[in-house]
Amino acid sequence: MLLDKMGPELTGEIVERTLIEKGRRLPHHSLHRWWSRRFSLLYRAILASYLTDSEELVLESLRSPKRIEPLARGKVFYEPFMGGGTGLIEASIMGYHSIGVDVNPVAVRIAQATGTLLKREVSGEQFELVGKRVLKLTEEKLRRSGWEWMINGKIVSYVFITRKKVPSWVDKYGKDGKTVRILRCPHCGTIFESMSDSERDTCPKCGETFEVTYRPKFTLKGDYPEQGKYRVWAVELREKNGKKWMKRVVDARSVSDWIVNSNKKAEEYASRAREILDSISLKELLEGKRLWREGIRRFSELFSARQLATFVAFAEASSEVKRRMELDESMMEVLSVVLSESAKSASLVAKWHPPIGEPVPAVAMKTYWVPEYTVETNPIARVPGELKPLARNSLASSLLRAVRIARGELSIGKEIDLSAKVGDSRTFIPDRRIDLSVVDPPYMDTVRSYASLSIVHYGALRVFDGITGAHDCINLEEIEKSEIPRDRKGFSDAMRQVFSNINSVLNENGRVVLFYNRKSTLDWENVLLASFESGLHPRIAYWVVGEPPGGLARSRLKGVFIVVMGREKPGKVTVVFKEPLRTAEKLVSLDSKIETSAARALEEALKRIYGENMVEFV
Ligand SMILES: C[S@@+](CC[C@H](N)C(=O)[O-])C[C@H]1O[C@@H](n2cnc3c(N)ncnc32)[C@H](O)[C@@H]1O
Ligand SMILES: [Zn+2]
Repeated sequence: MLLDKMGPELTGEIVERTLIEKGRRLPHHSLHRWWSRRFSLLYRAILASYLTDSEELVLESLRSPKRIEPLARGKVFYEPFMGGGTGLIEASIMGYHSIGVDVNPVAVRIAQATGTLLKREVSGEQFELVGKRVLKLTEEKLRRSGWEWMINGKIVSYVFITRKKVPSWVDKYGKDGKTVRILRCPHCGTIFESMSDSERDTCPKCGETFEVTYRPKFTLKGDYPEQGKYRVWAVELREKNGKKWMKRVVDARSVSDWIVNSNKKAEEYASRAREILDSISLKELLEGKRLWREGIRRFSELFSARQLATFVAFAEASSEVKRRMELDESMMEVLSVVLSESAKSASLVAKWHPPIGEPVPAVAMKTYWVPEYTVETNPIARVPGELKPLARNSLASSLLRAVRIARGELSIGKEIDLSAKVGDSRTFIPDRRIDLSVVDPPYMDTVRSYASLSIVHYGALRVFDGITGAHDCINLEEIEKSEIPRDRKGFSDAMRQVFSNINSVLNENGRVVLFYNRKSTLDWENVLLASFESGLHPRIAYWVVGEPPGGLARSRLKGVFIVVMGREKPGKVTVVFKEPLRTAEKLVSLDSKIETSAARALEEALKRIYGENMVEFV
């Protein structure tokens, strides 16, 4: 098997190929974009090279994973920390029987929903119809409840809110290849458009000059409508003009009737969502405690009343469409994941920097923070009747992504098993013998809990489940407690259990592939002792680029080692490092000193456990 003996050139080439996923996920892994994920091509390289000695076939299956199918038939892949299921899905596409567990049901549901779409249980066309019907019904329900995301026939895409100050640069759009800036004069509050790209601009109304900045620097003076802890200061409207959907930002004071009335009406409809969410105590959650300190006292405060009402209507609409179109539970699962995905933008803890990017959860390296000003995204902003979003990351975009997955050329054969289960890998043991396992544990101590950092996604999912009556109620407090510990002792104890469980069902020629990287020899020694004591030994390790930028924990270490282990004690352990690093340096920015110090730590740990002359660096 090539997995045991890939040379430096091939490793370099694989690194280069995986980097095409830099900044853009392959469509079939885009249903839910939150979960920290490895490059899917990395999985392909591992999964293919386990099955063959042919470099050509491995490289070919990076492009067309189905090429390896005849060899994968009957082979079993197991992933004990599967996350959103990147590896599980790739293994299934290639033809492996794949088993995955994760302690987090949100992750498991993402993997299952992707699997459902790839299995073509409904066609892309059918799912498009489902999506459109659900959105239409959602809109109807809101209208019947006395409000809609519309002002005088124009669609509301964003409502601009602040707790304190506001920026002067509000928004932008492109026109004839140029950027039009939408600015707000901090002196008189006039909102106007400007073609200038300089750092200062002049108000057409009062004639004052001011700094153009998207940072909230200016005090909001005047009679702006209030909404909970926020003041609303502007609204973005979309209107059709010929073929184009024009964007216009208006002063909130000119539409305060809509702001106040829709909020009041939505509040009634939102009460069901508040009941569901506020039964969860923020103080019980890692991130909840933090949000509490930032002034958020109830879970439901992570969303606006209009957003919550829209979630409720979407869940009710999904139930109705399910009944009418006789959809099965797996379709409901897909719809719940779609809602959860779009909550990434449709939440009040999303930061808004329109001139730079889309609203994303305000998650830093370690935790959430509550942005001082942000937008309230309309979760159903779309071109009427179509699955074309008019706000970034709205439900229309997530539905569209689901349609694309169901339509795409990749699929999972109906006869292939993909089993994604909620479970604790310290106790879970697959019910059959396995050939290949990828172990990608949470080891970054900067991320205290994956579960906690998915708090907004979880909230939307929980509302959906509560309204539709889905039985498996997800409980975030419990998930956090079951995540494996990050401290040295707790981590290595957990890993020992996981490795032993795997080894107890591993076939004679099976391989276990660990994803790991630390700069400390002690950390490396800890995890390698855990595998050693479980009867698993490294044969070769490859340095590769770990995950797309923008990963959950922006570690300074960009690389990760793929440590290939088997039952036999090694003759010598090869560490393939220099060539793939050289390749990566040309394509991404990384600090080779830091990467090298991690490689030295691995080398040192291997020497301590297996002996001085046992390691070879290439
Ligand atoms: C680094 S992520 C895996 C990402 C995945 N390889 C991918 O590319 O999508 C680690 C995962 O381990 C899960 N996890 C933590 N403790 C666990 C446990 N005791 N049992 C099973 N899964 C656990 C977390 O929920 C998280 O999803
Ligand atoms: Zn002015």
